Amino acid sequence: MKKSKIFIACDTTNISKIKKIIKDTKSTKIKIGYKFGLEFLNSINGQNFVSKLRKKIIFADLKIHDIPNTCASTVKAIKYLNANYLTIHISSGLQALKAAKKNSGKTKLVGVTILTSLDNKGLKEIGFSRKLKELVLHQAKLANKAKLDAIVCSAQEVSIVRKVFKKEIITPGIRLNKNSHDQKRILTPKKAFENGSNALVIGRPVTQGNIKNNMKKLIDHLIK
Ligand code: C5P
Repeated sequence: MKKSKIFIACDTTNISKIKKIIKDTKSTKIKIGYKFGLEFLNSINGQNFVSKLRKKIIFADLKIHDIPNTCASTVKAIKYLNANYLTIHISSGLQALKAAKKNSGKTKLVGVTILTSLDNKGLKEIGFSRKLKELVLHQAKLANKAKLDAIVCSAQEVSIVRKVFKKEIITPGIRLNKNSHDQKRILTPKKAFENGSNALVIGRPVTQGNIKNNMKKLIDHLIK
């Protein structure tokens, strides 16, 4: 199980809460990384805090989504964070992905497919006519073409993505029970790893309530 990696989504603007999340999710049984997203990285102290973290696996979930030039310069601008992972929406387009990859250096550039908060109905609403799984497969091919280092998709699509993308597959939308919050494509941690996820992203199921207890439940579930 040590090989399995879990990124804890640190979604808050509160530095003390972030420190508590980091402290209470430490584990000897599983590799833990920390994911900082739009909420924390846009807060006044967020970027400063992350840039000073040492000896942690840092996942900067900026979900860059823009024209090629802006994507590429954003990747350059964010270098000071020394993130191990950085996300970009695959829907930014192949040219943008390639331009960003040129500048990403040691940071793993992660392509985000269709958000796990969307289902087929949600996709239709925003004007996409292809079925979700088809679209995720299509985007995985693009990520491969752009030589991205990793992909984010739901754990339900790992076997499809794996056919065309051989590198790291990271899956959010992880739930231990039926409370899916705003997520639409969910799976349990165990099933996600069984499907072939290389790393999971878990936020609220761990960070809401008693963090230490939640971590224990998560690890027990994975060991069983
Ligand atoms: O709290 P929860 O476990 O739903 O958190 C999931 C995290 O993963 C959030 O920080 C969210 O921004 C991120 N994420 C996601 N779906 C994606 C990409 C990222 O839920 N497709």
